[in-house]
Amino acid sequence: MITIRKAMASDLMAMQHCNLSNLAENYQLSLYLYFYSGWPDVSFVAENAQGQVVGYVLSYVKKEEGKDSVGYICSLSVIRSYRRLGIAQRLMGQAHAAMVEGYDVELSTLNVRVSNSAAFNLYKNTLAYE
Ligand SMILES: CC(C)(COP(=O)(O)OP(=O)(O)OC[C@H]1O[C@@H](n2cnc3c(N)ncnc32)[C@H](O)[C@@H]1OP(=O)(O)O)[C@@H](O)C(=O)NCCC(=O)NCCS
Repeated sequence: MITIRKAMASDLMAMQHCNLSNLAENYQLSLYLYFYSGWPDVSFVAENAQGQVVGYVLSYVKKEEGKDSVGYICSLSVIRSYRRLGIAQRLMGQAHAAMVEGYDVELSTLNVRVSNSAAFNLYKNTLAYE
């Protein structure tokens, strides 16, 4: 059973660990801490029955004066043995909902390499990012 829940400060190292084996862009722990401490309510983890973090989404929100709030998906990763179970889709859904609920976000944005077909498909075809 996989549980999706809000990330906690104590998850940050496990989140970084999920990322290390997966992505070309490996962020320092300080970056996780920066986003988490600024916007603790829009990042989520997926936890297995043993309490191990097997995926996460790290997000933040920016509000410029006179403009609508914009949500940013900073990093998303699911460890290999837990892929294609809908975990990323659920993590993204929770992040989007929290952005809307907490910050009235109407637009969220992200960067993805065109060559990253799994992520590209997820964002474009499943989640309807343009
Ligand atoms: C991209 C990633 C987060 C997807 O995680 P996931 O939990 O396996 O994704 P989901 O199971 O929620 O997949 C949802 C949809 O995304 C698409 N998708 C996911 N993996 C895919 C793959 N390997 N190939 C093609 N489409 C894929 C499919 O449309 C899928 O729906 P379906 O299973 O009904 O066909 C995961 O592959 C990963 O961690 N990759 C390495 C890190 C990374 O690239 N992060 C994104 C950086 S921008």
